[in-house]
Amino acid sequence: MIFNKLKINKIILKNKIVISPMCQYSATKGCPSKWHYTHLQNLSSSGASMVMLESTAVNKEGRISKSDLCLFNDKHEKKLKDLISYLKKNNDVKYGIQLSHAGRKGSSFVPWVKSNTTLPKKISWKTYSASPIPRDKKWPKPTSMSKKQILNLIKSFKKSAIRANRINLDCLEIHMAHGYLLHQFFSPISNKRNDDYGGNVNNRLKLLLDIATQVRKVWPKGKILGARITGTDHLSKGIKSEDAALLAKNLKAIGFDYVSVSSGGIIPKTKMNQYEGFRVKLANKIKKKAKIQTTTTGLITKFSTANKIVKNRKVDFITIARIIIKNPLWIYQLAKNNNVSDYIPKQYKRILK
Ligand SMILES: Cc1cc2nc3c(=O)[nH]c(=O)nc-3n(C[C@H](O)[C@H](O)[C@H](O)COP(=O)(O)O)c2cc1C
Repeated sequence: MIFNKLKINKIILKNKIVISPMCQYSATKGCPSKWHYTHLQNLSSSGASMVMLESTAVNKEGRISKSDLCLFNDKHEKKLKDLISYLKKNNDVKYGIQLSHAGRKGSSFVPWVKSNTTLPKKISWKTYSASPIPRDKKWPKPTSMSKKQILNLIKSFKKSAIRANRINLDCLEIHMAHGYLLHQFFSPISNKRNDDYGGNVNNRLKLLLDIATQVRKVWPKGKILGARITGTDHLSKGIKSEDAALLAKNLKAIGFDYVSVSSGGIIPKTKMNQYEGFRVKLANKIKKKAKIQTTTTGLITKFSTANKIVKNRKVDFITIARIIIKNPLWIYQLAKNNNVSDYIPKQYKRILK
């Protein structure tokens, strides 16, 4: 049942609904702003068991935009710690953060200024990737990362993970999807290297697994550690579900607790088709092959879909994004629909009669 507790590692989630990371592009010099307090407080009151903080950069050139959250200096750490301790005072929700590097997708406008557009040269920064292949014709050519830069990147993820623990977060998720740097190394569309980090699938996985191994060493054993992975590129020459299952299997062997199966994003246009629960089948395939706790996102908007996929163990828990912004009472309405009455806060009972 979706409102049953779920144990991931040593952490108990009060139900099987998690809020997906959502970039807010509202940080000030990498630190959370007042908007983050309001936005995350609202999500904390949604009834979900865990709220994931947005994609957060592990170094300066790894930002998507200049308004990204960051976690690579003491000020970022202090301001995020203040935010988490404020949120934790108000409820029993667990919190996670997603660590990321944007790679060739970095140095962008915030989407409401210009969607999916790189900054003009004067105010842009140099971007890096597996190979010097731009995201598409309109994007700048990234610099192929040297071995030394790769080793520094691994250190950056490790250092940010140490900071994330000090902030008192319950869960850490490494972003390996949505066309960002780790996805760029994994996908044959963007990785044409001919060293240890390119070529066959094991080489293309090397950077992802090196980071996972180093992060595992510094992230506490009892807390939740996961990764958002690409289940498929939705392109004939891209990542397939078998590759993703291999990644998930390796992550499990390293000591990761879950994978969040996403897809698409390596180039702006793919064959991805969005419909109700469109990634559930893909996630289930990976879950079965890798035998790791699995979640997925992608238009899980109907109560019947949410209940069915958890009841039939297609995934272990669901992760939602847009629906909870559109309808903040969605989880309480789902509880009422499932006759789970004591779940609804007394303050909202009159509303949901
Ligand atoms: C405003 C917005 C920001 C997002 N930011 C992130 C992010 O920081 N990291 C991430 O992995 N996915 C991000 N996503 C993708 C969502 O987490 C989610 O996977 C996607 O919206 C599909 O789920 P949904 O159909 O429930 O919205 C974002 C989506 C939205 C709508």
